[in-house]
Amino acid sequence: MEKREFFGSRITVIFAMAGSAIGLGNIWRFPFIVGEHGGAAFVLIYIMATLLISLPVFLAEVTVGRRARTSSYGAMSSLAPGKSLWKFAGVLSIAIPLIIDSYYSVIGGWSLDFLLKSISLEFVRTSPENVSSIFGTFITSTWSPIIMHLVFLGACAFIVANGIKAGIEKFSKFTIPVLFVLIVLMIVYSVTLPGASEGVRYLLKPDFSEINARSFAYAVGQSFYSLSLGMGAIITYGSYVHKDENLMAAAGGTAVSDLMFAILAGLAIMPAVFAAGIEPGAGPGLIFQSVPFVFSSMSASHPAIGAAVSIIFFLTIVVAAMTSCISLLEVGVSFLKDRYGVGRVKGCIILFLLCGAAGVLCSLSFGPLKDITLWGMNLFDIFDWLSSNILLLLMALLTVIFTGFVLKKEDVWDELTNGGTKKVNDKLFGFVYFLIKWVTPVAIVVIFITNFIF
Ligand code: PFF
Repeated sequence: MEKREFFGSRITVIFAMAGSAIGLGNIWRFPFIVGEHGGAAFVLIYIMATLLISLPVFLAEVTVGRRARTSSYGAMSSLAPGKSLWKFAGVLSIAIPLIIDSYYSVIGGWSLDFLLKSISLEFVRTSPENVSSIFGTFITSTWSPIIMHLVFLGACAFIVANGIKAGIEKFSKFTIPVLFVLIVLMIVYSVTLPGASEGVRYLLKPDFSEINARSFAYAVGQSFYSLSLGMGAIITYGSYVHKDENLMAAAGGTAVSDLMFAILAGLAIMPAVFAAGIEPGAGPGLIFQSVPFVFSSMSASHPAIGAAVSIIFFLTIVVAAMTSCISLLEVGVSFLKDRYGVGRVKGCIILFLLCGAAGVLCSLSFGPLKDITLWGMNLFDIFDWLSSNILLLLMALLTVIFTGFVLKKEDVWDELTNGGTKKVNDKLFGFVYFLIKWVTPVAIVVIFITNFIF
């Protein structure tokens, strides 16, 4: 049996975890949700939700991962042998990343295609009226999106195949700082456009009248997705963290980077969208239609700048999506390795084939398979809805219940304070443990009910 690999240092743990966290969730959902739900008022709620609910869930996940030192599949059942509920949690933690990676890598493929289109100056050359139809034509076609999906997934699998240190850690150590630089460049461009202030106001003007129970549910749901919680990724990454690393500091660093990136992404996108005089929307339309419209309309006067910014923008998206996709592939690789002794490279090939095939079906669900629907959703939407709104919450709930009620309090303390050696953590522990044990399970159940009933 190969020895378990570890991340090199706290900063590389944060880079890898931030890599998992920073993704499409930050770029296409956060800015829109903020604008729709009261601007800065929602940002405040979001920060509170992150600190009081998502961070404790994050800590529960890294605690379980590091304590068990195994894949997310066996983590809980190895700490509490014989209980089928924890075996079920293990199965869930493998199913969720497989489902998410299948559709997420399809979007990764779209982003890659749009990066190539930016490089070949397609958005600069197409008139604003025609530019938004490029996306519809592309995703409803059969072969191009499939090829791009497989190339994207293959590139992610290649990085994972290189291992924790030489693959994931090296890639995120380089790309996370680059992502921040790229998004700041975008902001500089975006906020200097005429009419951009409207977009800044949309994001940041506090409007407390928009805040209601649903805003809380949205804030928590979004911050779970954004921090990659309930997907097995943080449990798995936790299992690679050295015993003497400070888990609370790593979790805090990850949450702060993720939050900062989400706000920066909003400041990069919304001012440009408003400057171009279009309505912002969430989801693929925002980045694949509205933003290319911006590039096309701006490049009438400055084609070179339009081209450069479009390349920067889609490069950011491709890289952000890759670091997220990688973290979920690692969940599967670590499962195949720990459970069946399958080597890393072979594991990557198996996952590539599985997610590749499921992703092909998701991709086709916009074209030839678009008539196969359930409750009005195509296969792609079903994958997204099932994983983000149901399975992920269930997995997070099981993890916090496990940490609060099954693990011994001393063991949780031992992980979160490194045996009492981290004095600040020791002081915070009582509060954090209370949040994990009592606040997060109640919050997750309330969100679940709010999502379904209201
Ligand atoms: N935290 C990611 C995001 O905000 O986009 C969520 C995610 C999705 C992580 C897909 C990993 C992944 F493969």
